[in-house]
Amino acid sequence: MTTRTLRIAMNGITGRMGYRQHLLRSILPIRDQGGLTLPNGDKVQVEPILVGRRENALAEIAEQHDVAEWTTDLDAVIADERTDIVFDASMTSLRAGTLTKAMKAGKHIFTEKPTAETLSEAIELARLRQETGVTAGVVHDKLYLPGLVKLRRLVDEGFFGRILSLRGEFGYWVFEGDHQAAQRPSWNYRKEDGGGMTTDMFCHWNYVLEGILGSVKSVTAKTITHIPTRWDEQGKEYPATADDAAYGIFEVAGPSGEEIVAQINSSWAVRVYRDELVEFQVDGTHGSAVAGLRNCVAQQRAHTPKPVWNPDLPATEPFRDQWLEVPANDDLDNGFKAQWEEFLRDVLAGREHRYDLLSAARGVQLAEAGLASSAEGRRIALEPISL
Ligand SMILES: NC(=O)c1ccc[n+]([C@@H]2O[C@H](COP(=O)([O-])OP(=O)(O)OC[C@H]3O[C@@H](n4cnc5c(N)ncnc54)[C@H](O)[C@@H]3O)[C@@H](O)[C@H]2O)c1
Repeated sequence: MTTRTLRIAMNGITGRMGYRQHLLRSILPIRDQGGLTLPNGDKVQVEPILVGRRENALAEIAEQHDVAEWTTDLDAVIADERTDIVFDASMTSLRAGTLTKAMKAGKHIFTEKPTAETLSEAIELARLRQETGVTAGVVHDKLYLPGLVKLRRLVDEGFFGRILSLRGEFGYWVFEGDHQAAQRPSWNYRKEDGGGMTTDMFCHWNYVLEGILGSVKSVTAKTITHIPTRWDEQGKEYPATADDAAYGIFEVAGPSGEEIVAQINSSWAVRVYRDELVEFQVDGTHGSAVAGLRNCVAQQRAHTPKPVWNPDLPATEPFRDQWLEVPANDDLDNGFKAQWEEFLRDVLAGREHRYDLLSAARGVQLAEAGLASSAEGRRIALEPISL
């Protein structure tokens, strides 16, 4: 029996992430499966309210997906006492303002990352959550990906022995937009609009490193704009003012304080010679694993070959064949939907969500420190954040 309906105002729903991952892959499937079933058997339904700037686009999406309500008045929907949750997937630069208004109005919030453009704003948001007592969740989608769920399981089972290092490769070629349209929005390449690889990805890398290995203690990064000129959605040439690649080294403290070195390359100016668009290799004394978005392969110490360096001979070892697939052993749903469901259960139970605004603030801190490290040409130690 449906006992309650949660009304969720979804801002930025015409965007790439808002539409595909949050509406299409998360909230509509939750609605269409009849909502969430609580431990006592009761059902809680969800009802999205689409929020954006363009009436036509909103009306079209609402019609197409049988959504009853949409509005261009963000302030009114935040103030509306019937709204339970405010979700934001709009442009990064507008986020802190929207989240602040929503929490002050007593709404629970779920939001895309980064939560803010500066660390002080991100900390302010975490403080406001503490004051208002609302439930706040920030997208930590990578930790819900099947590949990373398998990798985390290997860590939990002690597969690696002592973990030594992590190497990550993220990226693909994003077209400039002149001869072929770019496959990402142009604001991503303008610093003044909140764009940039470091701002975008280091907040992901912070929770990935925390979630798999331990807390990040320092960063040394080189950020760069490889492609200085791009063409926007209207075919107009513009200067790319934001970094489109970031090469980072992160010192991580494992659970017993052991030092783990993580290196992650992030680039929108790289061509893919990998199995997936992001891949992480973890090496430990007893085993190693490589995880992508979906797959994870592992190699134990006992199965480790003994290569001998000899450039005069062709490689005889079939290195890739020497790894074993790690099975899912479970039904791993879309990561965004899985986190939404967990968040909604937290809202209903009146408790905090584990991936909150403080974790998001550490992500923003890492991005800021990465940019500063590159600008100043030095390693930056990260101070613990307290509220
Ligand atoms: N979790 C992830 O893996 C992931 C991936 C990509 C982007 N993101 C984040 O999601 C957010 C949206 O990114 P996207 O790629 O979907 O961008 P997008 O440009 O496709 O969508 C942005 C949305 O904001 C709206 N918008 C743009 N300019 C606006 C303005 N001036 N005023 C009001 N609304 C405006 C657009 O209409 C659209 O609905 C960003 O904060 C980004 O960092 C997260």
